[in-house]
Amino acid sequence: MRKPIIAANWKMNLTSSETESYLKTFLLEIGDEIDTEIVIIPPFTALFKASEHLSASASTKLGAQNMSQHRSGAFTGEISAAMLRELFVRYVVLGHSERRQLFGETDEIINQKLHAAHDATLKPIFCVGETLAERDAGQVEAVLSRQLHAGLAGMGEKEIHEIVVAYEPVWAIGTGRNATPAQAQEAHAFIRKQLAEIAGQNVADRVRIQYGGSVKTSNAAELLAQPDIDGALVGGASLDPRDFAEIVKSARAAKAG
Ligand code: PGA
Repeated sequence: MRKPIIAANWKMNLTSSETESYLKTFLLEIGDEIDTEIVIIPPFTALFKASEHLSASASTKLGAQNMSQHRSGAFTGEISAAMLRELFVRYVVLGHSERRQLFGETDEIINQKLHAAHDATLKPIFCVGETLAERDAGQVEAVLSRQLHAGLAGMGEKEIHEIVVAYEPVWAIGTGRNATPAQAQEAHAFIRKQLAEIAGQNVADRVRIQYGGSVKTSNAAELLAQPDIDGALVGGASLDPRDFAEIVKSARAAKAG
């Protein structure tokens, strides 16, 4: 059984003080959630405040949106894995399409980051997904396969077992246009097949694959009801603590059948 994992990717939103009031509301709404793993992923500047509020929560963990592939040194503006670990960060988003498209991150850089995260015992949320042009050209499987093989190069079964994969079709991110449950399930099943090729069926059966791209309260349950969708990476709809709590609850209901 794969434990569902629902994550809130705030992107460049919410200050440290806004984080405090968000988490007070969210933790009250969510209560003693134990069947679902929840990850709050604020901007770097709010990690410290968030870690103070989440330290007593059994279900809600802290994640970061990015990190450097380097351990330390002359990299102005960058944040290392060790810096995140010290703030009780457990997860780190790597290879998000905004990092790939707007900040020039290549498969090779993302692979280096995955290795650096593993070395620091951070669990990666490794994002893959095709653009609209790639989907229209019939290249979905080729793109996913390339991103998975290149991103996971040099990683063993144990390392891959720790990873959460997020399937985020680029055309669905922030556009209000989500993949249909059938489209998402098809891509997730393909990703699991690739993982089996790379790391064996046993690992593939245990790796959790999140869907991301315009997940909201009205569509979370039907997406999460698909057999290979083990969670969601939620952007825009996670900025409201009550909406995000509702998404977590509908995930629990969907997975309980
Ligand atoms: P969205 O973002 O929910 O706003 O589409 C998802 C993401 O980019 O992780």
